[in-house]
Amino acid sequence: MDFNECNKTNNLSTSNVDKSGDLSSSNSINFNFDEVNNRDNCFTRKWCGRSAIFGTSDVLPMWVADMDFKSPKCITDAIIERANHEIFGYTARPDTYDNAIINWLKNRHNLNITKDSIIYSPGVVTSLSIIVSSLSNVGDKIMILQPVYPPFAGVVTDNNRELVVSQLISNLDTKNSHQNTEYTSSNDENLVLEDNSNLNQAHPYSIDFDDIESKIKDVKLLILCNPHNPVGRVWTREELQRLGDICIKNDVTVISDEIHNDIIMSGNKHTSFASISEDFANISVTCMSPTKTFNLAGLQVSYIICKDIEKREKIQNEFSRLHLSDNNAFSLVALEASYNFGESWLDNMTQYIEKNFDFALDFINKNIPQIKTYKPESTYLMWLDFSDVSTCDDKISKALIEIGKIGLNSGANYGLGGECFYRLNIACPKETLVDGLNRIKKAVDYLIS
Ligand SMILES: Cc1ncc(COP(=O)(O)O)c(C=O)c1O
Repeated sequence: MDFNECNKTNNLSTSNVDKSGDLSSSNSINFNFDEVNNRDNCFTRKWCGRSAIFGTSDVLPMWVADMDFKSPKCITDAIIERANHEIFGYTARPDTYDNAIINWLKNRHNLNITKDSIIYSPGVVTSLSIIVSSLSNVGDKIMILQPVYPPFAGVVTDNNRELVVSQLISNLDTKNSHQNTEYTSSNDENLVLEDNSNLNQAHPYSIDFDDIESKIKDVKLLILCNPHNPVGRVWTREELQRLGDICIKNDVTVISDEIHNDIIMSGNKHTSFASISEDFANISVTCMSPTKTFNLAGLQVSYIICKDIEKREKIQNEFSRLHLSDNNAFSLVALEASYNFGESWLDNMTQYIEKNFDFALDFINKNIPQIKTYKPESTYLMWLDFSDVSTCDDKISKALIEIGKIGLNSGANYGLGGECFYRLNIACPKETLVDGLNRIKKAVDYLIS
């Protein structure tokens, strides 16, 4: 069956969609990220899940990683057009779906892939778990770099594999003296130490390569967060090169979770691990999705890129065993519309996020100097160190919830190096951000009084 033909005859493709991604008209670019949207009435985890997480719904939710912004209009239009068809039977992916992914990765990430290297998945965490179960055996060692997104540890232990943790190096206490020392590999064998002081200025986190080398023997898989949630690093090409060289030497497969790859602050450049070389593409499996980029997590759509045929077959077999293969009907058109027409919205949204980061950093430095933090290079998440505010116990969480009436993610869930940290989601209108920061200040004032 020709699904493109099917699309054409049934008029279900995204070809009629407003290409501007605009919120108001097809010609004028008029994105409105200042609009405060009520999300309290539509089954949203961030808003409607407050009582379950914080014990009260009386908190401003600035936790789970989705945005309080509306998705671009090109996506909503595509979904409405699909809904108007009024038949929601089983789905099949048209070539235009794969082409949208291929073009996005080529144009935005310099990653050249073929259609057969794409594996569909409903979500990145699902992918991580399936890749772990298909590329390793019970009891195998799997390395992660903490503090990191909590499901990284979960997919290892839930699959009865052994967790090996390397803690990121942090010099948040001494961030002004950060040297920005990087390693490069001018050819694949000789590592050269050089000063990259123009890169990742003042970012306090880096990879502890010596620690990784001391622990990597017998490790089967390394799960990399690239860019990194929660610390907000965009790993440089040189850092990835050094990490990949260690993995090649030790026969370790890299699972590169690149879900945050599209939201990059100015002055930084995301490097897809697999784009570095043929060898890196062959030893890696990459997980990606438009869901963070365009705020589509509730549509459940993502994909895996795997060049190596043997690994790909193992992963694909595991998806087949679990009978996980079909897209949700709305996710099909949403992915296509977002990658084909959403770029301008994304660029504007990223600028808004960057302004929010700058504002929040300035606010915290001036008004809550007890909290140590910095401007992330990617994501829309700030990583706040409360260790100068109070002793690291549940006093801080209680004050945030009961005095500040704000819901943040507790860093303790992110593993080693997360104790005493809280994660703040700034993907919201400025008005909401100001409210949230004042609530954090109120809690801190209470704790230090
Ligand atoms: C690094 C990382 N991977 C995966 C996810 C979740 O992906 P999904 O909703 O597709 O399972 C998140 C969400 O915050 C994340 O930060």
